[in-house]
Amino acid sequence: MSVQAPIVTVDGPSGSGKGTICKLLAQRFGWHLLDSGALYRVLGLAAEHHGVDLADEDALEVLAAHLDVQFKSSAESEGVQVVLEGEEVTAAIRTETCSQAASVVAAIGKVRAALLERQRAFAEEPGLVADGRDMGTVVFPQADVKIFLTASAEERANRRYKQLMHKDTGASLQQVLDDIKARDDRDMNRAVAPLKPAKDALVLDSTVLTIDEVLERVVQEVNSKTSS
Ligand code: C5P
Repeated sequence: MSVQAPIVTVDGPSGSGKGTICKLLAQRFGWHLLDSGALYRVLGLAAEHHGVDLADEDALEVLAAHLDVQFKSSAESEGVQVVLEGEEVTAAIRTETCSQAASVVAAIGKVRAALLERQRAFAEEPGLVADGRDMGTVVFPQADVKIFLTASAEERANRRYKQLMHKDTGASLQQVLDDIKARDDRDMNRAVAPLKPAKDALVLDSTVLTIDEVLERVVQEVNSKTSS
């Protein structure tokens, strides 16, 4: 039996539903939640605030190593509050510009290395649910359960478009699909930690599954692998 806190990794492209599944899983088991994408988003935003060019890899590495970010769970906002240098940026890091900036800085090996230990520190009792692109392949290769959640690009664009409609951004479905494909392309084809399922991951396609169906399948997997 493992003496360390159990770890469940959930990797996959944006819009696959992994954020929602991870939140629900963490609630269900009462475990910690690592939203690793938020770290890359915060770094993208910090670069903008400090006027750091996204092509300046050395400056981004320094920024990543000294990133003053806190993740606070609060009872009222049922998620995690993200605070960068004392300023609440929970909503600010969710813009499309920030998504694209995140995927640019995330393609830099030195930046990923600078953020590695910070992510591993989240693995504490009673357990961790880790949401990202390389959780099962690079950050927690020893994880007890590895899930790779995917869905067709069209379905993921549809989901994102519906979310954006409430925010009145004026983005068309085609634009959302193009952005998703651009980000997929960058995430899957980069040299360091490309998005791909770990060899021992359970691959789930959520295109035709409801959130409840995905959740139940993952809970089954966690129970069967961690109850000993
Ligand atoms: O998951 P989220 O959409 O918030 O992630 C934003 C971007 O951060 C992704 O498009 C990806 O480029 C990057 N990312 C990553 N590795 C992770 C999590 C996110 O490269 N573990």
